[in-house]
Amino acid sequence: MTTISQNPAAPIVNEPAAAAPATPPEAAPKPERPYSPGLEGVIAAETAVGYVDGANGRLLYRGYPIGQLVEKGTYGRVAELLWTGEWRKSARLVPAPVPEPVMCALYELPSHTHPMDALRTAVSVWGAWRRPHWPPTVDQAREVTAFAPSALAAFHRLRNGLEPVKPNPKLSLAGGFLQQLTGKDPDPADARALDAYFIVGAEHGLNASTFTCRVIISTRSDLASAICGAIGALKGPLHGGAPAEVVSQLHEIGSPEHAEKWVREAIARGDRIMGFGHRVYRAYDPRAAALRKVAEGMADMAEWLDVAVKVEDVVLRVFGELKPDRVIKTNVEYYAAAVLQGVGLPPDLFPPTFALARMAGWGAHAIEQASADKLIRPDARYVGPAEMDVPALGR
Ligand code: CMC
Repeated sequence: MTTISQNPAAPIVNEPAAAAPATPPEAAPKPERPYSPGLEGVIAAETAVGYVDGANGRLLYRGYPIGQLVEKGTYGRVAELLWTGEWRKSARLVPAPVPEPVMCALYELPSHTHPMDALRTAVSVWGAWRRPHWPPTVDQAREVTAFAPSALAAFHRLRNGLEPVKPNPKLSLAGGFLQQLTGKDPDPADARALDAYFIVGAEHGLNASTFTCRVIISTRSDLASAICGAIGALKGPLHGGAPAEVVSQLHEIGSPEHAEKWVREAIARGDRIMGFGHRVYRAYDPRAAALRKVAEGMADMAEWLDVAVKVEDVVLRVFGELKPDRVIKTNVEYYAAAVLQGVGLPPDLFPPTFALARMAGWGAHAIEQASADKLIRPDARYVGPAEMDVPALGR
């Protein structure tokens, strides 16, 4: 057996091979345990952070309905609510400057880097520099949430040959993100619309990225590592990549008259229609309803929205006909696409902007998981070959 010392300068030691263990007796057959592909329906954690009521189309953050939080809250207040459980008027979250080591790394990235990879790199460098300890804290969550929009905006400017701009601490986190993207103070209506999007995207139970975050924290690893893993999970088109594809989908459909033929052909090919379907919701996604309302208030999006609403009606009708056994409704990403376009973001910034919003939820779940302090380690059902001898191939 080869042992590699922790000290890289120390020599590698070859130990004599250990005697092969005797063949274990045939294991007694275990009672079959339930297997749920994709962990569907499995309860893997207890949480007081958020409640996704899929059957009734309700989403609560620490008990408060999402629609009311969008109407009465700001992202800063909502993030503090998720992290601490307190709903405070004074709670604010302002954009923080990009830490020097993170900015240096962003300068080094090639301009073809996907912005999601740039954001993950920024969080990784922050972790290498700050070395956040386990267990994660509210201060750590605040810090990463406050600088992340600045880092993403800086990368976007750099890839376009522009110098990053300093954040204006008088703006909200969403407003500061827009200001650092464009170099100009944002239109207050756009800042408010993006703030509403941030609130809606902040938390959503044990989705794939939050689960990833909790798994990493459960090993007593740090918040930066957990958020890097979560960003990786969110990058997939079935999770956070959908709204960008909603835009190209509607572009391809062109006008509502073409929707029916397009949808039928896409379903027949086995394609996924982006912005529809959900693991948990069997009723209309309340986040889609909240964002549709926000989008309806955006004058520039009226024409796009008119097409989107007509196409949505057709898609829902065709799903009802072709997939009668699976209730497939509109999900959040359909109308997120409208809001993100309306505030002027290019489609490849949609997934990392979703990540900026979800920082609040990831932080809250990380803190909660650490307080449970239980390693998450499920089991797999073995379906490989039975035990057999290794065929002798000669030396
Ligand atoms: N387009 C076409 N068929 C669909 C869709 C869709 N959008 N959603 C579900 N189905 C069908 C699927 O083909 C399958 O049919 P069949 O049983 O005949 O093979 C059935 O519905 C069940 O699908 P599933 O993939 O087993 O269900 P799931 O719960 O694992 O899928 C989902 C959830 C979100 C991955 C899926 O609905 C999907 O791919 N949607 C499109 C991508 C999208 O919009 N993602 C954003 C999700 S909301 C953001 C978030 O909360 O992360």
